[in-house]
Amino acid sequence: MKRVFSGVQPTGNIHIGNYLGALRQFVELQHENQCVYCIVDLHSITVPQDPKELRKHILDVAALYLAVGLDPEKSTVFVQSDVPGHAELSWILTCNSYTGELSRMTQFKDKSRGSESAPTGLFTYPVLMAADILLYDTDVVPVGNDQKQHIELCRDIAIRINNKYGKTFVVPEGRFLKEGARIMSLDDPSSKMSKSAENPLSRISLLDDEKTIKKAIMRATTDSEGAIYYDLENKPGISNLLNIYSSFSGMPVEDIVTRYEGRGYGDFKKDLVEVTVDALRPIRERFQEIRPSQELIHILRDGAEKAGNLSEKTMKRVKERFGLGVE
Ligand code: AMP
Ligand code: TRP
Repeated sequence: MKRVFSGVQPTGNIHIGNYLGALRQFVELQHENQCVYCIVDLHSITVPQDPKELRKHILDVAALYLAVGLDPEKSTVFVQSDVPGHAELSWILTCNSYTGELSRMTQFKDKSRGSESAPTGLFTYPVLMAADILLYDTDVVPVGNDQKQHIELCRDIAIRINNKYGKTFVVPEGRFLKEGARIMSLDDPSSKMSKSAENPLSRISLLDDEKTIKKAIMRATTDSEGAIYYDLENKPGISNLLNIYSSFSGMPVEDIVTRYEGRGYGDFKKDLVEVTVDALRPIRERFQEIRPSQELIHILRDGAEKAGNLSEKTMKRVKERFGLGVE
């Protein structure tokens, strides 16, 4: 069995991009692998957070994990800051990474653009992410395409340390989605659907009700041609909607194109609303059951204990290799 690890930030607005790009893979993978899934709250404080909101979002995301089908009997689900090894290993990796390679990270460049001085946590964010992964002897990391650069950095650091200190870490592999599966923003299909975009109609959140979903899809940016076919370059809006339709219905894009030949965008969008609402309804219902339950807290405590045990083994090995601490 392979060890799988991934993380999602505890922010609100978990959207269908996160679901199709990440969460849905998490669920599929748990059947044949040993999976560890983490709510990465330490990553989220790289930008200012309201403490009350942060606590709420941690539980929201945890409940969503379970609502989309993660089974705590099969997968370890926990909160990053409940396991001290993440921050500890992160420091050790920081001492083995370089300002040059971190300066090249596009996420850092994007988030710090325009300011002369940025929070150090934003800069070392990918090192903490590497620590998350390496702490669990991870073989496979399922993530969206936007995380490719961070996975590469994690591999570089692992290989560097293995070369210098002897085999210390498993070198992980990313498991990325096909390029077409990237879900774009509904109001601007040239940028990816994001939790933080100002316009709430740019995304469909996993817990949106039918009315909100309908509004977002019916207003989604398309083009003036009036024909439905896949062409990412010239028809990014329609192509994005085709992707969403296909992902939720399981129907290949070509079949959807055939079905809507000679029909207008209105028809297509109306059906897409139905497909989306049907796919999200069971998730919303399960979420409402799990979120207020004590069971949720138990699952997270149990998860932290299991993850803690795994991480202690790695930390012991790392400290030995580096000559840290007392025998
Ligand atoms: P984030 O929203 O950045 O915390 O991302 C959580 C997970 O969802 C990561 O694995 C991302 O790569 C993935 N993800 C985020 N936005 C999208 C999107 N628009 N399309 C596909 N995957 C996404
Ligand atoms: N940086 C990831 C994102 O924004 C979240 C994350 C943190 C992560 N640690 C991780 C993903 C470890 C995979 C593995 O999506």
